[in-house]
Amino acid sequence: MKTVLITGAAGGIATHLRRELAGRYRLRLCDLRTVGELQAGESFVQADLSSLDELQAAMRGVDAVVHLGGLSMEGAWDDILSANIAGCYNAYEAAHREGVGRFVFASSNHVAGFYRRDEVIDDKVYPRPDSRYGVSKVFGEALGSLYADKYGMQVLCLRIGNVNPAPLDARRLAIWLSPRDMAQLAVIGIEHPDIRFEVVYGVSDNRRSWYDNRNAHRLGYRPMDDSETFANTVLAGVPVEDPRGAPFQGGAFVHQELFDNPAPLPGRERVQ
Ligand SMILES: NC(=O)c1ccc[n+]([C@@H]2O[C@H](COP(=O)([O-])OP(=O)(O)OC[C@H]3O[C@@H](n4cnc5c(N)ncnc54)[C@H](O)[C@@H]3O)[C@@H](O)[C@H]2O)c1
Repeated sequence: MKTVLITGAAGGIATHLRRELAGRYRLRLCDLRTVGELQAGESFVQADLSSLDELQAAMRGVDAVVHLGGLSMEGAWDDILSANIAGCYNAYEAAHREGVGRFVFASSNHVAGFYRRDEVIDDKVYPRPDSRYGVSKVFGEALGSLYADKYGMQVLCLRIGNVNPAPLDARRLAIWLSPRDMAQLAVIGIEHPDIRFEVVYGVSDNRRSWYDNRNAHRLGYRPMDDSETFANTVLAGVPVEDPRGAPFQGGAFVHQELFDNPAPLPGRERVQ
């Protein structure tokens, strides 16, 4: 049985993954925070992503890393720099030093948040991050490419939409990822024999998706869920989306912090 280290193990996605992957792998859970009661096959190592030494110790002897740790939304530059830039570098570098051959990186739809919703984008599009957070995920994907090309690490980057038992609003009908589909993608990253460096979208089989996710399907991804099941309930229950974010895939991330600077930005229509 493989041993898989999950960083960010006290977080939301990891909590779903622990349940979905139970019995399939030995799970070594890693976070700054404690993770609650351990189940059979689980162990816990406390580590700060800012410490390469702590991460190396946590990764010793594991077969694969699922890197979920860090800031999971927009934040101050110093926080992004520490958790998502330096922390992400430390995670890849610790994996490399410990000879871990597999790395699954939790990237985000926000690497491409400035694409419009009427565009269908695939894994090859040039990034258009909508936030410092999105930039940090572009950086994490670039690190993956480097460690794959230079050291032969097998890296799968998941541009995750939104993981939840059910989609929460109109935008998330397009980008929803059910917990069991998330687990299926993680398993592909941990086990697929032919991965070198790949980017796929972490979304379920949503009819309203704006992604061409053929690369995931090529790797055997067969999503089991479609947000459409929830569409009537979701659309009846949520307020109309802020028009400044509504044209863009990244939603509210594109206009956060623009209040003080309403001047139009070059190459983009005025957002107001
Ligand atoms: N939740 C989503 O739908 C979604 C969507 C797109 C991308 N992602 C990405 O997936 C990953 C997991 O998301 P989540 O929703 O579970 O996030 P979360 O915020 O619930 O969990 C992140 C975890 O990282 C840990 N962490 C933060 N800084 C750390 C540090 N310096 N050292 C050690 N641990 C640290 C936190 O303690 C926390 O438990 C994140 O990288 C996020 O950016 C999530």
